[in-house]
Amino acid sequence: MEFDFSQLSKKERYKLLVSFVVPRPIALVTTTDRAGISNAGPMSFFNVFGDDPPILILGIQHRPDGRYKDTTRNIHDTGEFVVNLVNEHIAHPMITTSLDFPPEENEVSAAGLTLTPSRTLCTGRILEAPVAMECRKTESLEYPNRSVIVGEVLHMHVQDEYIDPQTLRVRPEAYHPLARLHADAYLLAQAQFELPRPSLEAFLASREREACEDTLSVDDGIN
Ligand SMILES: Cc1cc2nc3c(=O)[nH]c(=O)nc-3n(C[C@H](O)[C@H](O)[C@H](O)COP(=O)(O)O)c2cc1C
Repeated sequence: MEFDFSQLSKKERYKLLVSFVVPRPIALVTTTDRAGISNAGPMSFFNVFGDDPPILILGIQHRPDGRYKDTTRNIHDTGEFVVNLVNEHIAHPMITTSLDFPPEENEVSAAGLTLTPSRTLCTGRILEAPVAMECRKTESLEYPNRSVIVGEVLHMHVQDEYIDPQTLRVRPEAYHPLARLHADAYLLAQAQFELPRPSLEAFLASREREACEDTLSVDDGIN
């Protein structure tokens, strides 16, 4: 099937994009409002886009009436946010934080999670999260119905059980991030396998070897 995006409704575009651009990592974003009230909300229009500078991006749509969501408003007001990553242990609380609580309700406690102080920001991080990244907003792109927010990572917390302290590599047998698929479907990254990248020389040599083997087997067939 072919889709001309200029002919699709907003709902159809959304359905196509979120059904096929999967799995998407989930940022459980904590922020603080001007009065100091904490807020949390999951965002799967999220990823990391560079290490130098270390930047990540969030795509947050506005409410149906055009107002900012609490997360967007707080980031614009304070210039800071924390991205807490999500694994199987905090999957259900993550969903609770996505409910449309009034701004005065602390969504972190409503979800049974614990807010703990950050190192570099006034906004707290979620203690139960396997990983948390303290971020400063560097810029945002403002569209009529969404903000695309770029943040620089200032500080990262990783729970000890998920990282090898010598190599700084993840321990995949322990860390099972939750990723969003279409609609209410999710994936736990447990079925991992390795796909090593050969050098160009090794790739060319093996291609030549295979071509030789094919020629020999064709010759065999003739004889
Ligand atoms: C797994 C998941 C991913 C979500 N991703 C996004 C997203 O990328 N952008 C967005 O605007 N809303 C997203 N939402 C909806 C928001 O989490 C929801 O609107 C929430 O109430 C926003 O919180 P806030 O109003 O406190 O900012 C997602 C919800 C879930 C459950």
